[in-house]
Amino acid sequence: MGVVQDNRRGEVTVRDLSKSFALNGQRLNVLRNLHLEIRSGEALAIVGPSGCGKTTLLRILAGLDLPDTGDVLIDGHPVQGVGTERAIIFQEPRLLPWLTVLGNVAFGLTVRGVTPSEAETRARHYIRLVGLADFEAAYPRQLSGGMAQRVGIARALTVQPEILLLDEPLGALDAMTKLTMQEELARIWREERVTMVLVTHDLEEAIYLADRVLVLPRDKASGPRLIDIDLPRPRDRSESRFVMMRKRLMAEFGLH
Ligand SMILES: Nc1ncnc2c1ncn2[C@@H]1O[C@H](COP(=O)(O)OP(=O)(O)OP(=O)(O)O)[C@@H](O)[C@H]1O
Ligand SMILES: [Mg+2]
Repeated sequence: MGVVQDNRRGEVTVRDLSKSFALNGQRLNVLRNLHLEIRSGEALAIVGPSGCGKTTLLRILAGLDLPDTGDVLIDGHPVQGVGTERAIIFQEPRLLPWLTVLGNVAFGLTVRGVTPSEAETRARHYIRLVGLADFEAAYPRQLSGGMAQRVGIARALTVQPEILLLDEPLGALDAMTKLTMQEELARIWREERVTMVLVTHDLEEAIYLADRVLVLPRDKASGPRLIDIDLPRPRDRSESRFVMMRKRLMAEFGLH
């Protein structure tokens, strides 16, 4: 489609980033001296136990939070607050209940000053991409959870970000919908050539979608690890190399 820009980059550099919070008068070190290079168009998954700092890292990448020290560069430029080259998708889609699917997806463009007709044309492209063409006139209350989350993804894509930041986007979905959505995310990522940073609790989801997996430990002494997922696409969950990779990732958490 002509609406997709070809000059996107979406490289992310994280340099010596640390973040702590004050908790009951003590410092809680959440991220410590993190270094990370995310390539243009890469799919990176972030996994780790609850409370290890996944959302904190994603919020810093989005520009919603500031690190204590260190910095984040997008295409070589320091992040200063939120920016149009980044879009974030939360666990809940947070749609506007008084707008239709089309209205919700077009909203981000109209607030940026795009004319309503142009906004609708572009919104329709992404509504089709997430498979909801028949539902563009529906209201959020008329959608299933998986459909609402797809609207959220379409809304994020419509503003054509270089970088898509996702915080457990499929966490609230039932198992079947989740599998379908993982396939759709894999396809959307491939078609849009967007850099994707995906926080997930689900190790299989990480292996299914990512080029590399960043493992954030709870114990900061052991340091984060990056694991290459060197498997052909589309990926097959039952294939032996996939299963081996799952074992390897589970071993990172002492699981068997
Ligand atoms: N605004 C805040 N003020 C104080 N502490 C915070 C704040 N935000 C996060 N934390 C603490 O930082 C740690 C990391 O939180 P974060 O939300 O990044 O974890 P997470 O890895 O996303 O966990 P989960 O998998 O449960 O979503 C937690 O111990 C949390 O209590
Ligand atoms: Mg979180």
